[in-house]
Amino acid sequence: MAFPVTRMRRLRRTAGVRDLVRETRVAAADLIQPYFVRHGSGEEEIPSMPGQYHLSVDALVERAAAAHAAGVPAVIVFGLPARKDEAASEAFDDEGIVQMAVRALRAHVPELVVMTDVCLCQYTSHGHCGIIQDGDVANDVTLEVLADTALSHARAGADVVAPSDMMDGRVAAIRAALDGEGFERTSILAYSAKFASAFYGPFRDAAHSAPSMGDRRGYQMDPANGREAVREALLDIEEGADMVMVKPALPYLDVLRSLRDQTRVPLAAYQVSGEYAMIAAAAAQGLMDERAAVLEALTAIRRAGADMVITYHAARAARWLS
Ligand code: PBG
Repeated sequence: MAFPVTRMRRLRRTAGVRDLVRETRVAAADLIQPYFVRHGSGEEEIPSMPGQYHLSVDALVERAAAAHAAGVPAVIVFGLPARKDEAASEAFDDEGIVQMAVRALRAHVPELVVMTDVCLCQYTSHGHCGIIQDGDVANDVTLEVLADTALSHARAGADVVAPSDMMDGRVAAIRAALDGEGFERTSILAYSAKFASAFYGPFRDAAHSAPSMGDRRGYQMDPANGREAVREALLDIEEGADMVMVKPALPYLDVLRSLRDQTRVPLAAYQVSGEYAMIAAAAAQGLMDERAAVLEALTAIRRAGADMVITYHAARAARWLS
């Protein structure tokens, strides 16, 4: 039955009716706040990501506690090591920056879900996500280092380890290492469909992790490939991933939808640094209403199928949503 019997505007007439028929909701409980932690004291704003900070462990605990009090259930921690080397030594050091941060979060904000990014690019002198041999990132050698890194995060108390390196077989290697040491309760959130994206630009500045030669297209996915993203996710699930992720988020909503339709595990989306910086820059110039733009983007990401969203807006969005 078409117009004039059917009138779509009837259900848009009042805020109350719009609330009742709304198909997708965003809540603070769906959001995960990323933090950058470094050695030293205090905090400094990251120039490429206004409103985000390089934090000491103490400053991290303070901000994470405030975000948690505002309703954000989880954080994901990225580390800036004191030194970088070919072997990515600080990545798997029990006294490394992430390991210290996780122990502090565990002690001071016990209810918080603590996730860690498992990757080597911040820790290697060349900035690639694995160990270089014969001019290439050596997959199988890297797996051992990633497994050691995940294990040290679990020992520090991480609830969830999230490998973002895009090596083949990393989920199986990490699961085996965790189970071998009695960490069968530690979850794995796999960055399954991580695309080689220009939208990571501000992060590489924030994490000091730009590769010094070449790029990441030999291991991160081609932005053109949607079917391949489904294969990646299914393989990660077979290897033992508890949850899978699509990254970036807004330019890849179709990929989120396919993964939602073709898997049964919880699905995360990562609204990355470039997505954050675009909204922040437009808002700073008065071109967009920041709050409305953020909530609309988060709604779109949830509508596409994400159960949870890693977003630099998490703490502020939680306050807007309460
Ligand atoms: C580490 C890693 C990156 C991001 C998350 N983990 C950078 C990269 O792969 O270059 C990007 C996050 C963001 O842009 O917000 N491999």
